[in-house]
Amino acid sequence: MLIHNADLTHQTTIAYNSHRLNMTAGEHIMSEVIPVEKQTTNTAINHHDKRVYESIFDMLPSVDNPTPLVRINRLNPEPGLSLFAKLEWVNPFGSVKDRAAAYMLRELERTGSVSATRGIVEATSGNTGLSLAGMAGAKGYHTTVVVPNQIPEEKKILLKIVGAQLEVLNDSLCPTPGLGDGSINMARTHARAEPDKYVHPNQYVNQQNVQAHYETTGPEIWRQTEGRVTHLFVSLGTCGTATGTSRFLKSKNPNIRVVAVQPSAGHDVPGLRNIAQLDVSELLDRALIDDLLEIEYELAYRRALDLCRNEGLLAGPSSGLIFEGARRIAVRDKVGLGVMIFCDNILKYTSSMVRHLPELSADAVPRMRE
Ligand SMILES: Cc1ncc(COP(=O)(O)O)c(C=O)c1O
Repeated sequence: MLIHNADLTHQTTIAYNSHRLNMTAGEHIMSEVIPVEKQTTNTAINHHDKRVYESIFDMLPSVDNPTPLVRINRLNPEPGLSLFAKLEWVNPFGSVKDRAAAYMLRELERTGSVSATRGIVEATSGNTGLSLAGMAGAKGYHTTVVVPNQIPEEKKILLKIVGAQLEVLNDSLCPTPGLGDGSINMARTHARAEPDKYVHPNQYVNQQNVQAHYETTGPEIWRQTEGRVTHLFVSLGTCGTATGTSRFLKSKNPNIRVVAVQPSAGHDVPGLRNIAQLDVSELLDRALIDDLLEIEYELAYRRALDLCRNEGLLAGPSSGLIFEGARRIAVRDKVGLGVMIFCDNILKYTSSMVRHLPELSADAVPRMRE
């Protein structure tokens, strides 16, 4: 079952003459919750085809405004199984987490849980914090993020740039719900101690995290591949992406194989859990996972570099890890169409890359002779 580029590039283009008359599901959802004073009038222009928007909320992904699927051309070891990367870094705040953040924020607004004085507190390994703080800032809400010390420096600075208050804890890279004084409990403690100041969405248990992928990522992939997807490659952190996307795709075709790729113990791939830590993920539905691969975490960085250099894809480490898993399954299964969720790009991980691949250090560049 080979699919050619042309098959995928043929997509229905929907022209939006007026935002009000042609709202997509995603647009409708966000339009409902934008405070009245910020709502656009019926003269608003949101053209996905021309890429002109009233606000970043109208750029959020949906089945009519999907993140791109890009074929792996040079690095696919088994051409019979086409591999496509779904580029989540094209989202407004640079990662797959825009989806969960938008849905969680929408729910907080719908229930009247957030206001100009009552902001958000969330534990995050960076990406959810960036999405939440960026969106909250655009609506006038304040955000505090509790982050593990081990996340890359770039992410901490970016969180400050988008206006988040930063609280840095000595916690594991992917925080564990319910454990001692970790970052999730710290966020919960803030929300309980100062309920007028904070609300805690808690991405680790929040079903909006799953729903976002069930209503956007899954339908996007189904439509973009015209129903021909045979394999989905994901990584597991909160497990919102894996559970929501797989649940939708398997409802369309139960034979789609879901492959989860996890880093080996002691890893430093932000956002991901090792297999031994998976039981704490309340959003994980193990029945949806067909293959669970554990891969040496160093390969996350090596494969990210390969993708940057040979495919022109500026993939981050969790994408590198997923890609390594997809390569192994392609060699095993030989035929099909695989979609890999590439959660974010490399720009936030330059310091991690140099640590893992010392040849990238600026000091390693041969100096010109004087
Ligand atoms: C870079 C990166 N990859 C993968 C994931 C895992 O996604 P999920 O939390 O939906 O399981 C995350 C989550 O934060 C992430 O930041």
